[in-house]
Amino acid sequence: MLSETLLRADGLTKRYGEHTVVRDVSLQIARGEILGLVGESGSGKSTVARMVLRLIEPTAGSVVFDGVDVLAASKEQLRRLRRRMGIVFQDPYAALNPRMRVRDILAEPFAIHKEERLRGAKLQARLTAMLDEVGLPVSSLSRYPHEFSGGQRQRINIARALLLRPELLVLDEPVSALDVSVGAQVINLLRDLQGRHGLTCLFISHSMPLVRYLCDRVAVMQRGRLVEMGGAVAICDHPQEPYTQALIAATPEFALPAVVR
Ligand SMILES: Nc1ncnc2c1ncn2[C@@H]1O[C@H](COP(=O)(O)OP(=O)(O)O)[C@@H](O)[C@H]1O
Ligand SMILES: [Mg+2]
Repeated sequence: MLSETLLRADGLTKRYGEHTVVRDVSLQIARGEILGLVGESGSGKSTVARMVLRLIEPTAGSVVFDGVDVLAASKEQLRRLRRRMGIVFQDPYAALNPRMRVRDILAEPFAIHKEERLRGAKLQARLTAMLDEVGLPVSSLSRYPHEFSGGQRQRINIARALLLRPELLVLDEPVSALDVSVGAQVINLLRDLQGRHGLTCLFISHSMPLVRYLCDRVAVMQRGRLVEMGGAVAICDHPQEPYTQALIAATPEFALPAVVR
């Protein structure tokens, strides 16, 4: 089923005033595939992710999700589309409301997407099962975000992103703010979850070794443009573009050997 395209972006462009921060980016993600998006800081990766989810409006280009034109979607259509797309951001601290208990943080998507109609014992069961999947105890539900470490908070963010069983998961540098060993555990969790649920992922990172480890294909961005795209292992082992070669050289030895699978 790897040939069925779930997401297709064509000619995505974003301008802020005189600055074109993303220029003519086209990419496709097949169902069940993990596409890596790499590039140095400021190359436009987050802007691409936000346009794909229509969190910001592209200046030009198109986004089609499972045959639906995302940019032409009405407010109500967009709300329904968003339910099928999850996102995890880089900063595990900023993403969680400090005044809400984990139970309420996780239950929030069910309040927004009322068609899920999950309440009471069934909601509790879903939340408990999800916490278990991300490796957190049930007791987490009555706690507040500040009671968790960065890695645990990112697990809560992943749980929240997955609770509505999205088809596409966008991960914007999900481990960049974490210690290397903690990050490696979160990466392995993502890998397990992806395998178990057949998730389709857009995985943003500036680490080529990480992308090689996790992704099927990779797209390399430089100053708003795509400069190279192909199989993750092929590109990481035999980069064609000087920029990609520099990116690989600039990445410190990632501690993937420390990963315990
Ligand atoms: N709202 C904005 N207004 C103006 N410039 C922006 C805005 N958002 C991002 N940029 C600029 O766009 C470029 C790409 O940013 P971003 O997509 O966040 O890069 P990355 O995620 O690869 O680090 C950067 O130069 C950034 O300063
Ligand atoms: Mg970014």
